[in-house]
Amino acid sequence: MIRFDDVTKTYMRGQNPAVENLDIEFARGEFVFLVGASGSGKSTLMRMVLKETAPTSGTVHVAGKDLSRIPSWRVPALRRDIGMVFQDFRLLPSKTAYQNIEFALAVIGTPRKVVRRLVPEMLEMVGLEDKGRRLPHELSGGEQQRVAIARAYVNRPSILLADEPTGNLDPSTAEGILDLLAEINDRGTTVVMATHDRTAVDRMRRRVVEMVAGRVVRDDAHGTYESVAPESVISGNLPDGAEDLDAQALADPETDHRDSTDDAQRSPDDRPGRQAGGSHRVPHDGDDLLDERDAHLREEDEAFAEDLHDPESAR
Ligand SMILES: Nc1ncnc2c1ncn2[C@@H]1O[C@H](COP(=O)(O)OP(=O)(O)OP(=O)(O)O)[C@@H](O)[C@H]1O
Ligand SMILES: [Mg+2]
Repeated sequence: MIRFDDVTKTYMRGQNPAVENLDIEFARGEFVFLVGASGSGKSTLMRMVLKETAPTSGTVHVAGKDLSRIPSWRVPALRRDIGMVFQDFRLLPSKTAYQNIEFALAVIGTPRKVVRRLVPEMLEMVGLEDKGRRLPHELSGGEQQRVAIARAYVNRPSILLADEPTGNLDPSTAEGILDLLAEINDRGTTVVMATHDRTAVDRMRRRVVEMVAGRVVRDDAHGTYESVAPESVISGNLPDGAEDLDAQALADPETDHRDSTDDAQRSPDDRPGRQAGGSHRVPHDGDDLLDERDAHLREEDEAFAEDLHDPESAR
């Protein structure tokens, strides 16, 4: 789904690389925590997935496509399939919760009929069905983050990147946000979450990738926030449904098939993130509507979607 091949990113000449010789792969349906001290390169890694910044050397593949070969006019289409959630929520301050979610659909030309059905469905999923008319400043931090997650997920992206999504929240609110991300992952979306939230990582026991000064120093299939002896962490067993995951990957031409074959070359002990939860896609009400919408979209000028990820409008 996402693959880095010997990726180095140096922002400025003479500076130490933000990311150095990164070789890593995140499979379809995985839930991955990125941990590491401030400045270790977590956000840089995510920005490269979004093609917000290009590697200085090496290649990044997303859904089987080499990002360096994607022309700029195709970038909005790439980003439409990647949801993004930030520590500071980044909702549009003058729009209601409903309108913030609606906006993500409207800018890519979703028919109104579809919008009217999907937005309430999203509000309900994040537990805010009665707060759609509130402005962001009338919502708590946790509620704002729920709106941001609904907005990031409403287009059913195959990848959700979350950069410290619980960084501004109290522990119990953070727990709710994490459960929501886990639910999204259960529905089939690959989730990559950069975090300093020790409790979150230790509770979930998902794949943990630790970075130090731009390099991966640890990659545990069922890790904790801090490194512990490998034998106490890794079972080496494949969870139920892992075979289905590979079958699904082969059936989908968008998927990078190397996702599944590369695993065979790894030792079972470091086979990352094959959680049962991420291995199936739960059929969802809005899916038909989105298929319909996508057919419609193909006829649209793709550049129209650019606003969706325009940093100005994302604030
Ligand atoms: N736009 C930029 N220009 C120059 N240097 C940058 C830029 N963005 C990040 N860096 C540098 O790259 C390194 C990695 O930064 P990055 O933001 O990826 O770290 P991080 O792991 O996300 O940190 P944090 O946990 O604080 O969010 C840091 O040394 C940082 O100063
Ligand atoms: Mg960061």
